[in-house]
Amino acid sequence: MEVLGIDIGGSGIKGAPVETDTGNLLAARYRLQTPSPAKPQPVAETVFKIVDHFNWEGHLGIGFPGVVRKGVTLTAANIHNDWVGLNAAKFIKKVTGCKTCIINDADAAGLAEMAFGAGKDRQGVVMVVTIGTGLGSALFTNGQLLPNSEFGHLEIDGVEAEWIASDAARKREKLSWKKWGHRFDQYLHTMEKLLWPDLIILGGGISKKYEEFLPYITVQAEVVPAKMLNEAGIVGAAVGACKYGN
Ligand code: BGC
Repeated sequence: MEVLGIDIGGSGIKGAPVETDTGNLLAARYRLQTPSPAKPQPVAETVFKIVDHFNWEGHLGIGFPGVVRKGVTLTAANIHNDWVGLNAAKFIKKVTGCKTCIINDADAAGLAEMAFGAGKDRQGVVMVVTIGTGLGSALFTNGQLLPNSEFGHLEIDGVEAEWIASDAARKREKLSWKKWGHRFDQYLHTMEKLLWPDLIILGGGISKKYEEFLPYITVQAEVVPAKMLNEAGIVGAAVGACKYGN
């Protein structure tokens, strides 16, 4: 099946048509700035511009940076609060004219890594952590997703992990790789104590810089960078949304 995968992020909204059996992009991805403030109407209009760019008339699979249940967006940590409680699937369908399914962005990236990337054929407990503006998580057991895990909001010493260990935190505080690496390692240790994953896959833009912080990661679990880098969010949105979404 061909689905237009769209990844709604804090800074950019990216899309490309995807062949869902292979995970291959059928055309080069197209990226637009996330409007600010990122309220539903301007974001949906930006999604429409991507639809229009590809002359798309088929299904849309969307990854959203918050909890999504049955098409309804329930949290919005790094996007405008007006999304909370909105039936985003219906809303985006109304604006774009395309049948729309929507899931959490980290779940989308995780599904892509499990199907075609670093988690392919991996059994046991796999945790995917996406490191960007937010800290996203996706949890799998024997390849099955437990949707909407929100472990980036876990508090460590009274502070949300996302606030101190995301890529936004690294940039905001101008942290060295060593300093940030130690913080992120502390986060992974906390996750390890709670979930004991066999494999941890690190995704998001920062996964390209994996070698910079790998020396500071000391958890017992196997830790690997995501394989699909920038494309995971788009591919996973296309592949996963219509399976797991509304
Ligand atoms: C949100 C998650 C999202 C992550 C990455 C967090 O702030 O709560 O739902 O997956 O950011 O975008």
